[in-house]
This record gives sequence, C-alpha cells and structure tokens, in this order.
Amino acid sequence: MFMFENISEGKNYKSLFNGEWVKSKSGKTIQLKSPVDETTIGEIQSLSQEEVNDILENSKAAQIKWGETPINERAEVLYKAAELLEENVDEIAQIMQREIAKDSKSAVSEVKRTVDFIKFTANEGKHIEGETIGGDNFPGFNKNKLSFVTRVPLGVVLSISPFNYPVNLSASKIAPALIAGNSVVLKPPTQGAISALYLAEVFNKAGLPKGVLNTVTGRGSEIGDYLVTHRNVNFINFTGSTEVGKHIAKEANMIPMLMELGGKDAAIVLEDADLELAAKNIVSGAYSYSGQRCTAVKRVLVIDKVADKLINLIEERVSNLKVGNPEEVVDITPLIDSKAADFVQGLIDDALAKGAKLLLGNKRERNLIYPTLFDNVTTDMRLAWEEPFGPVLPIIRINNIEEAISIANKSEYGLQSSVFTRNIDDAFYIAKKLEVGTVQINNKTERGPDHFPFLGVKSSGMGTQGIRYSIEAMSRPKAIVLNLPR
Ligand code: NAP
Ligand code: G3P
Repeated sequence: MFMFENISEGKNYKSLFNGEWVKSKSGKTIQLKSPVDETTIGEIQSLSQEEVNDILENSKAAQIKWGETPINERAEVLYKAAELLEENVDEIAQIMQREIAKDSKSAVSEVKRTVDFIKFTANEGKHIEGETIGGDNFPGFNKNKLSFVTRVPLGVVLSISPFNYPVNLSASKIAPALIAGNSVVLKPPTQGAISALYLAEVFNKAGLPKGVLNTVTGRGSEIGDYLVTHRNVNFINFTGSTEVGKHIAKEANMIPMLMELGGKDAAIVLEDADLELAAKNIVSGAYSYSGQRCTAVKRVLVIDKVADKLINLIEERVSNLKVGNPEEVVDITPLIDSKAADFVQGLIDDALAKGAKLLLGNKRERNLIYPTLFDNVTTDMRLAWEEPFGPVLPIIRINNIEEAISIANKSEYGLQSSVFTRNIDDAFYIAKKLEVGTVQINNKTERGPDHFPFLGVKSSGMGTQGIRYSIEAMSRPKAIVLNLPR
C-alpha cells in the first residue's frame, strides 16, 4: 500500500513527470466511472498540449544518459520492477477489476503474466548482439574494410495502450523499449489508466532515472494528434482499434511504428476434428473477458456435416458460463462502457433481422451482455465481418476447405486463425493459405506465450511484437566501418 502513496491524493491520480507525481497545471481532470454501476472510481489528469510538450522535452533529455547506461544495469532495473510488481499483484488486480470490470481470475493472471514478461525481457535484452562483417564478402572489396554493427536505441518511444490489458499491454511496450535504451512516454487508455499508473510507479520505484519513464493522461481524441506528431517522438508503439491505428498512421508522418489492431479471428473446424477439443477452445477463446480480446475467436467456420454436433457441444459450454460482477469468480462481466454494449447489441439485432438462428443470449442489463450464440450466420450479416469486442459468437456453416479459406481471407482483418483437424496435411495446407499473422492448430487463437512473434496483417496491424521482436523493433543497427591501409 505504501508503495503507491505518492501517485494520488485521495482518488485524484497524478501523472508521472521527471520522477515526480504531479497534477495538471489547469487542475482539469477526467472522472472515471465503473463499467458495472457508474460509480466514480477516481479521476486522472487531463494534461494540456503545453504539459505534453514539457514531458516530451524531459523524455528526450533523459534518454541520453539512459541510452549510455550499460545494458546489465538497465536489466537490473527491470528485474527489480518485476519483483515489485509481483509483490503488488493483488492490489493492482483489484484496481483493474474496478476500472475495466475484468474478472478477478483474469486480472490476477494479467499482472502475473506481466511479471514474467518483464523478467524475460531483461534476460533477452542482454543477448541482443550486433555483428562484424568483412568487406570481402562483396566483389571488389577486401578484408581491410570491416563493419562493426551494434544495436542502438531509437530515442523516445511513445507507448499507447488499450483498455483491455492496461498493465500487460503497457509493459509489453515499456520493458522492451527500456532494455533497448529508449526513454518511454506512456499514454494509457483513459479507462484503465489507474492500473497503468500503478505499473508506472513500479518502474519508477525500481530505480529508473528521472524522466526515463513519463506518463501522459488525457483523452486520446484530444491530445493524441499532438502526441503522435511531436518532433521528439522517435517511435510509436500502439495497441488499439483499427480505426484509431489507421488515423495515427496517417498523422504520424515518417515516425516508425508498431501497431496491434483489431481482429476477426476465425476458428475453422473440419469434418475429422476432435469436436470436444474444438468446443472447449472455441468457447474459451470467444468468451473470456467477455470477448474483449483482439485474439478472441470471433467467428466459427464449420463443415456442415459436423456442425450440429459441434454446436451442441458449444451450446452446452456457453450455457454454463457464469455471468456477474468482476469481484466474483465469473466468466462474463459488463463491457467497458455503454457505447461498446450498444455496438454489440447492434450486431445482434442485425443478425436477427437477417435471419440468423439465436441459440443463446440476446439479453442485456446496462453494460452486461449475456453470452450470445448464433447458428446459420450468413455473409450478408454485419456479425460475419465486424469485430464485436463482446460475448457474441457467430457460427457460419461451410461445405469444404476451399470455402473456409475463401471466407476467412475475405475479412479486412488478419490477426490469427485456428484450424481444428486431425489431418496434419489439411492443417498445414489451410494454414499456409490463410492471410493472418499466426495460425493455431487445434487450439484457440491467443497471443501467448509472449516471446512468440505476435503480428497482424491487413487491418490487424503492422510490425511484429513478441519480446525479442519488440526489442529489435525499438532499436536499430549502428555501423562503424574500419578501413585499414593494408
Ligand atoms: P482504442 O479506442 O483504439 O484506444 C486505444 C488507445 O489509443 C487508448 O489509449 C486511447 O486513448 C488511444 N487513442 C485514442 N484516440 C487516439 C488518437 N487520436 N491518437 C492517439 N491515441 C489515441 O482501443 P481500445 O478501445 O482501448 O481497445 C479495443 C480495440 O483495440 C479493439 O479494436 C481491439 O481489437 C484492439 N486491440 C488490439 C489488440 C492486439 O493485440 N491486436 C490488443 C488489444 C486491443 P483513450 O483511452 O483516451 O481514448
Ligand atoms: O487483446 C489483447 C491481445 O493482445 C490478446 O492477448 O493473450 O488474450 O490472446 P491474449
């Protein structure tokens, strides 16, 4: 508890600037409400462009010494951060439950996963080496020309994280950026900011030099453009919606970036699949954290011959999902806000209007959408293509593998897909044809383990995350060429 005494005055949460927790000069704040019952959870600073500029100037200045700090010393700060985070798992998980209505099990799991992430990043960062290249590899040159290549930081990394993983998807940017020698400006999601500010204090208390990690709180729609076009930003690491990602990509002219965006992950189920295994993975993949995961299973493409059996197994599992408030041990909790719930309800209504067969759900209480399952979803329905980010799953019946590949690839998204089959040839045939970052064979779509490459293509993102990939993305080669006289 005392670890975090500086970050707030009562429920007024400050922002981290140059090692100190400060309020906005204007006194302007944003009230955060519970997604469950609209009660006030707290308030965060709504920083002005002038304050954002001061923060980015401070980050730029602080990065110089941090970039020259030996990597083993940078790693020690990360190890300490992991230790402090582990000591405060329960407190931070409880804040997350209140802020984003994440069920207690998932909230604890997210923080523990982040502890492991930070440790792994420190280890990995110590082995990111350069290389030495002789000139004689290329015609006309000899060994008297040698290139000594090392990896150096990019400078200031702007990390923008989403509401659904405010701790893990902030740390997945901060830790690799820091071990690579960058300074970091964290723009957390407004709904989820308090959890992210606690994470920032963990890094701050772990011994980061002042200014190496700063936070910027405020609505992305108000300060976002100023942030992503600021001259001091050398890299943007963004996770969020495709709509915002595409906007940032347009605004942030020439600044390199990594983007993890939306998804419409398909679970393809073939005739010979283990249907019990498929049903278990599909339900877990589609409904955990109420479907508010970019890698959630968001459509099932099943060979019609086995569809009835699969659907019965899915329906049984979905009907046993526990619905309630995040403090309880439940599977389905209220969505992040009424706008999100309205959007999901709109997809449900459209599917019903166009003839989809409702098997379960279509029940709403404020932001809580009960787990909903549709059969006979067709490609003229919005639900076949749009990302619900809610607990609703469409079943699309197909006749053959080629039809599955065609429908899967028609999506604007390309994050992940699953293929359920006992035939390894079919699995690899389909996997090679799918336009996605990752194909899971006989498993739900998911990002972890966090050292695997994680990427989206098409409208699902650009660049590759995953610990080593992220470190490499947020650093660059530096070549020093030695020209010997003989
Ligand atoms: P979002 O609305 O796009 O917001 C993401 C982050 O961007 C927030 O911190 C937000 O700040 C900020 N932001 C908003 N407008 C901005 C602007 N103009 N310039 C700069 N930053 C801006 O997404 P979300 O609702 O938090 O997350 C849900 C979406 O993210 C879903 O589409 C989901 O698929 C996607 N997502 C993808 C992945 C992945 O790994 N591919 C992971 C998680 C989520 P405010 O909160 O202040 O608006
Ligand atoms: O939406 C967050 C994205 O990174 C998914 O993570 O581990 O739930 O598959 P995970």
